[in-house]
Amino acid sequence: MKLGELIKGAAKEGKEKHVPVIELISCQDCADKVVKITVGKEVAHPNTIEHHIKWIALYGVKKGLAVHIFTCDLGPTYGVPEVISHAHLADFSELIAIEYCNIHGLWEDSLTLSP
Ligand SMILES: [Fe+2]
Repeated sequence: MKLGELIKGAAKEGKEKHVPVIELISCQDCADKVVKITVGKEVAHPNTIEHHIKWIALYGVKKGLAVHIFTCDLGPTYGVPEVISHAHLADFSELIAIEYCNIHGLWEDSLTLSP
């Protein structure tokens, strides 16, 4: 088995609480585009010691390769699993976010970037 076979996406039950939503928004301080990733945007994910989002990672696709951009270690936490970060995105054709729920495993989604 390969790890990729265990990563769930938008077609799986529980997607509303787990699929990481990637958005490009304007920074309120400098007006640059920043990456915002939210887990549980549609339906809030429980964030307790027993059941939480442990981490969110962002990769960029560059010439067919996955390039690690950042990983945020979040849990265990009672906070909302939402990350906003500046990132140099010009070289990437696509962004892929992956998150880990300690009960429900790995989830991913992607966003194609316009040239
Ligand atoms: Fe979960």
